[in-house]
Amino acid sequence: MARINKIGVLTSGGDAPGMNAAVRAVVRATIFYGWEAYGIYRGYKGMIEGDIRKLESKDVGNIIQRGGTILKSARCPEFRTKEGRAKAYENLLLHGIDALVVIGGDGTFTGAGLFSEEFDIPVVGIPGTIDNDMFGTDFTIGYDTALNTVVQTVDRIKDTASSHDRLFFVEVMGRGAGFLALTGGIATGAEAILIPEAEGQEEKLNKYLNDERAEPKDSHIILVAEGNTVGGAEEIAKRVAKEFPKYDVRVNILGHMQRGGAPSAFDRFLASRMGVAAVEALKDNQRSIMVGFKNHQIVHVPFNKTIAHSPELNKTLLDINDILNL
Ligand code: F6P
Repeated sequence: MARINKIGVLTSGGDAPGMNAAVRAVVRATIFYGWEAYGIYRGYKGMIEGDIRKLESKDVGNIIQRGGTILKSARCPEFRTKEGRAKAYENLLLHGIDALVVIGGDGTFTGAGLFSEEFDIPVVGIPGTIDNDMFGTDFTIGYDTALNTVVQTVDRIKDTASSHDRLFFVEVMGRGAGFLALTGGIATGAEAILIPEAEGQEEKLNKYLNDERAEPKDSHIILVAEGNTVGGAEEIAKRVAKEFPKYDVRVNILGHMQRGGAPSAFDRFLASRMGVAAVEALKDNQRSIMVGFKNHQIVHVPFNKTIAHSPELNKTLLDINDILNL
């Protein structure tokens, strides 16, 4: 196993609150173990373009509480090509970087796995995405903060909804996973929840809208994950307004505001633990693994396993919501 001297760290894909706390932890743990830390800017794009700078401990001071990512992020189609990855490798050689910590989601780890194999360089991943859609970890960095943002926002929408006796469709992020919608829905007392993972949701929604027990309610909140199988919030709202004229329907699409803001205490804690664990994994000669957090313990999950499996969303939570919503 080659000796490590310099570790590069990057953030890639959609940013998530807590990524800065993870960068801080990676840089400081790297220095603690006697190595040098390098920041790679704008994810794989910066690796291909050579946007790489040495980071000292003070460079990551006062960032644990900041949202976004000081390393910036990007989605990089060029890294999907062999030529793109070869250019990136040249830049690592130029700086003498011999190991990487990549912070991101599924796409980030897919690229990382290929890169590690092609150029025989150890790479460890840290799951950072508000979607919580990674197999092998109970939580991804950013999910808890985004969930709290969803809950605070829906509470406000509920205030105005009940003043006007309205029904709101609130669309939250999650192209392929319904964690934000499902947990956010239960936490706000939503009347219905539409997620990508469940079947027969349109029928269930209609059943609720037809149920006479729904009538005395002065507000109705339907949480819609953007990737659900029924359609976008606007589309569903149009149909419902037409087919159920007794409801005064409005739509709120929360969008990218869910990705911003100061990370919650839990996300800071999780990111700090994962950052140190990622560097320690490299120290223990681990490679092509994601550092996860399962049952309150740090675990190592091979990239190919986390990429190949769907996230472990507990669909029975929908039944809990059905018990609670009428
Ligand atoms: O993966 C995180 C995420 O925020 C998804 O929930 C959302 O669908 C997507 O990123 C949006 O991506 P972009 O910021 O590139 O439009």
